[in-house]
Amino acid sequence: MALLPIYETPDPILREISTPVEKVDDEVRALIKDMFETMYAAPGIGLAAVQVGIPKRLLVMDLQEPEDPDDPESKPVREPRVFINPEILAHSDHEVPYTEGCLSVPDQYAEVMRPDKIRARWLDEHGKSHEQDLEGLLAVCLQHEMDHLEGVLFIDHLSKLKRDMVLKKLAKARKERGLRAA
Ligand code: NI
Repeated sequence: MALLPIYETPDPILREISTPVEKVDDEVRALIKDMFETMYAAPGIGLAAVQVGIPKRLLVMDLQEPEDPDDPESKPVREPRVFINPEILAHSDHEVPYTEGCLSVPDQYAEVMRPDKIRARWLDEHGKSHEQDLEGLLAVCLQHEMDHLEGVLFIDHLSKLKRDMVLKKLAKARKERGLRAA
């Protein structure tokens, strides 16, 4: 297993359209393992292959929700999920706000509106097909990750004013990080 480099905006690779995974084989499963390791280490709850420089329609996710839903400090439960060649078959007309972040836009958060329910189809790491109705954070996170497959970042959903603010904060944080490291 290996930690993979996470590409950050404005790297042009993040704007590429990912291509379908042709065959779910051992090579793909090895990449999935590395992607999980990279995502947990970051730490994050979702990671698309393009974020580690591989523009394939593959993403990993683990919401790591607290054991006790009433206590956010309780131990996070690991529930790894793999989505290969995911498709959204239908979505509700009702949009809800959620404060999103992204490992490719480090430490920046903003509210994004998305449909609260989706019906999705995907392959798992064994090539088995799944079709399911998803809602809540799972639906939000899958939509966010699937945006990556189209070269879209969550900041693209914001107004220009809001997006510029986020990018300014990101530039400032990078500068401070650079100064500290120097
Ligand atoms: Ni992201």
